[in-house]
Amino acid sequence: MRVIQSLRRLQVWRCRMGQQNPRIGFVPTMGALHEGHLSLMRRARKECDLVVVSIFVNPLQFGPAEDLGRYPRTFQADRKACEQAGVDLIFFPQVKDLYPSTFQTSVVVKQLTQRWEGEIRPTHFQGVTTVVTKLLNLVGPHRAYFGQKDYQQYIVIKQLVEDLSLPVTIIRCPTVREADGLAMSSRNRYLGATERELATVLYRALSAGKKAITDGVRSGKKIQQNMMRLCKKHPELSIDYFTVCHPLTLEPLTRVDREAVLLGALRIGKVRLIDNIFAFLGSA
Ligand code: PAJ
Repeated sequence: MRVIQSLRRLQVWRCRMGQQNPRIGFVPTMGALHEGHLSLMRRARKECDLVVVSIFVNPLQFGPAEDLGRYPRTFQADRKACEQAGVDLIFFPQVKDLYPSTFQTSVVVKQLTQRWEGEIRPTHFQGVTTVVTKLLNLVGPHRAYFGQKDYQQYIVIKQLVEDLSLPVTIIRCPTVREADGLAMSSRNRYLGATERELATVLYRALSAGKKAITDGVRSGKKIQQNMMRLCKKHPELSIDYFTVCHPLTLEPLTRVDREAVLLGALRIGKVRLIDNIFAFLGSA
C-alpha cells in the first residue's frame, strides 16, 4: 500500500495508471476510520482493480463554531486499517496543498443543500462539494463510494456529478450500525457513557417513524410527531430536525404514499448525531 501526500505525485501516479486502464474505486474520508468506512473500502475492493482512500479533514466543511480543531486525527491506526482492508493507495494531502493561499473557487449545489443539514450548517455542503470535486479530479476514479449514513451528502454528490458531467459512478453503501442500532460515526467517540446510552434514541425514533408508516399512518406530520415523541422524553437532548422526505428531492412529504426517507438529527451535549432510514409502504 502506498501513501501519497503530494498532489503532484498523485497526478503522476494517476497518469501512469491511466496507461494500464485499471478500474479505480475511491473512498473519500476524513479519517478516524471505523467499520462504516471500512465497509465502503471492502465494497470497492470487490468491485475495482485499485482502491484509493483519501484521508483529509476538510476545513471548508466545518463552521466557525464546529469541531475542526478537535476532530479526531488517527493516521497511524487509519493506515493499518486501510492496509487490512486491501487498499492500494492512501491520498493524505495537506491543507496548504489543497487550499493554497490563492484558492478562491467553490462548487455549490443549490436547492438540495438548502434544507436539513444545510439549514443548520449553512456553509457545510459547499465545503463538501468543493473538496469532493477536487478529490474526484485528482484521483480520477471510475466509481466513488459514499455511505447512506450521510444521506443528504450522498444525494448532493449525485447531483454534483450529474450537473458537472463528471465521469464517475457514485455508489451508495448501507449504514453500518453498532449492535444497539447507533450508526457508527467518528464523532461517537466524544460520547460519555450515559450519553452513549442515550444516543440510541435517534435510531429508535427513526424506527418508530418507519413502523408508523408500515402500520398505515400516511400523514407526514403525524409520522414526524411519532419520531419526536421518543426524543422529547429526554430533556438532555436537543432536536435539530426529524422529517419524512421524498428520497430524491428531500422535500418533506405531507402524505406518505410512496417510498420515503426519514431523516433525523439531534444533539447530546456537544455531540451532534445524524441518521436516516428508508421506509417502504407495506414492508415490515
Ligand atoms: P467521513 O465522515 O469520514 O465519512 C466518509 C464516508 O464514510 C462517507 O461517505 C460517509 O457517509 C461514510 N460513513 C460514515 N459512517 C458510516 C456508517 N456508519 N456506515 C456507512 N458509511 C459510513 O463524509 C465525509 O467524511 C466527508 O464529508 C467527505 C465526503 C470525505 C468530504 O470531506
